Amino acid sequence: MCGIVGYIGKKPAFPILLSGLKRLEYRGYDSFGFFVFDKEKPFLFKKVGKISQFEQDFPNPSGEIGIAHTRWATTGEVTEANAHPHFDCQKEIFLVHNGIIENYQALKAKLIKEGHKFTSECDTEVLCHLIEKYFEGNLEEGVRKALREVRGAYGIAVVSKKDPEKIVVARLSSPLLLGIGNDELLVASDPSAVITRTRQVINLDDNEIAVLKPDNFFILKEKPLETIEWEGEKAEKKGYPYFMLKEIMEESEAIENAIRGRLAIEEGSVKLGGLDTIQGKLRKINRLILVACGTASFAARVGEYMLEEYAGIPAEVDIGSEFRYRKPVVDKNTAAIFISQSGETADTLAALREMKKKGILTLGITNVVGSAQARETDAGIYTRLGSEIAVASSKAFIGQLAALAMLTVYLGRQKEMALIMGKRIVSELAKLPDLAREVLKLAPEIEKLAKKYQDYKNFWFIGRKYNFPIASEGALKLKELSYLHAEGTAGGELKHGSLALIDENFPTIAICPSDSVYEKMVSNIEEVKARGGPMIAVATQGNEEIRKLVDDVIYIPKTLEMLTPILSVIPLHLFAYYMAVLLGHDVDRPRNLAKSVTVE
Ligand code: F6R
Repeated sequence: MCGIVGYIGKKPAFPILLSGLKRLEYRGYDSFGFFVFDKEKPFLFKKVGKISQFEQDFPNPSGEIGIAHTRWATTGEVTEANAHPHFDCQKEIFLVHNGIIENYQALKAKLIKEGHKFTSECDTEVLCHLIEKYFEGNLEEGVRKALREVRGAYGIAVVSKKDPEKIVVARLSSPLLLGIGNDELLVASDPSAVITRTRQVINLDDNEIAVLKPDNFFILKEKPLETIEWEGEKAEKKGYPYFMLKEIMEESEAIENAIRGRLAIEEGSVKLGGLDTIQGKLRKINRLILVACGTASFAARVGEYMLEEYAGIPAEVDIGSEFRYRKPVVDKNTAAIFISQSGETADTLAALREMKKKGILTLGITNVVGSAQARETDAGIYTRLGSEIAVASSKAFIGQLAALAMLTVYLGRQKEMALIMGKRIVSELAKLPDLAREVLKLAPEIEKLAKKYQDYKNFWFIGRKYNFPIASEGALKLKELSYLHAEGTAGGELKHGSLALIDENFPTIAICPSDSVYEKMVSNIEEVKARGGPMIAVATQGNEEIRKLVDDVIYIPKTLEMLTPILSVIPLHLFAYYMAVLLGHDVDRPRNLAKSVTVE
């Protein structure tokens, strides 16, 4: 999704902005732009496409103040005119924006009546004209007055020739942070854009405006300085051709990171420090609602099964974009759990804010420390995975599943879960990183499988109970990485309609570990085979019988039924990756997609 970087200091801004933008590329974008205050000639540069396509042609402006942006189109097509920075009628105010101005059409019509001339279709441009309208010599005052008229979400950085030597930034529902360096200040929508220059950051809160000058800055209220925990080299590819493969290969490590120091095997329990402050409240909870989007929603669905079966708490799942428009009926004994890698997904955040208005307890499972979700939930669990750079989620999903398993034990032990059961789950969790490593060793085998199936255009994924959401995840990953048609359903649903599609050109991947629904899955596999559909099974090691039923088998190690998704999803991630590579796609940045979806 869109990315912002701004710089003000003593060094030429352009190379710093460029390197910041490149670090935001992983979020996905379709166009980009820079504005630099070069005293000779202010420099505005906007292009459609990827930065690497134009790098040879970049001029080298010498100014020490600038703003830059990667755009992922929402309002207005992918054109140079719609790329940021946008400007006012006089080309004196330049602005970059993440988010969406929901009332831009009404504002634009009014501004046009007042004589303003627009040059783009992008909602952002109204901000420039509004600031122009209210500008009376002081940029932050102009910004403040302009923002009073705006509805929607924004992280903005603004500069003006009429009040130079400063960048004014503001945020509402779209992340923005200040990077406090040595003799320099940066602003960015994502810490990765400032990390090479500073680790000292201030996360802006909603409705805050900050003014950055070459030697100081101020915000409307005092904010504490935070240190970003970030391992620079972790953000590199470490020899892998793509971040996607690197991150899949880190899935065993992801489990380790998520569970480290949290398992109390002898007590059959887990320690989740982030929930300590609300322990008392949690005891009274008798219903859980899990809300998330995309891949995270499939983790939520696995969590639903875990929480009901082992913690004995009624649980239900909804996706963020639907949940807030239902009229969810909740009471004081309901808690809502929001699951998000980025902690900045607009749909999930909107649902969270809706639940906060209703006054119920809100929990978060989040990877990004200091994200909006982490700050706005009452309590939560960090998945502690480090940065996930590839647009498609992989290790984040694994971390979310591990967090949900721990939450199940945590809540279950407060209710009726016996010590012996707690011990069983926790000791199996402790073994998972090694078991995941075993599955990752299958990568060459799965690459071969991808070669065998690379010419098929459609795939079905089926699973039941804990592995039904894994079928959905396998299909989503294949769609988004390889652009092939894929669907994931519960095995039992095929016969209710979808089976009509199955023929020899429509392979199915059945996730069928040896668990409580294995026999049922075998029936579903037979239904498909009877219609001539090619079949790949993800089965438990030692199950030789399955070989007779299907064309290909991927074996995963045995673990507790509720934990099988953590292992069964790994081959599916690898399969989607290899298919996409074979088909020649940019696996880290699939077309039309963005890493953090910060628009509704
Ligand atoms: C799929 C994918 C997306 C995200 C979804 C939620 O591979 O990455 O479906 O899972 O956009 O993102 P977060 O977890 O950041 O809320």
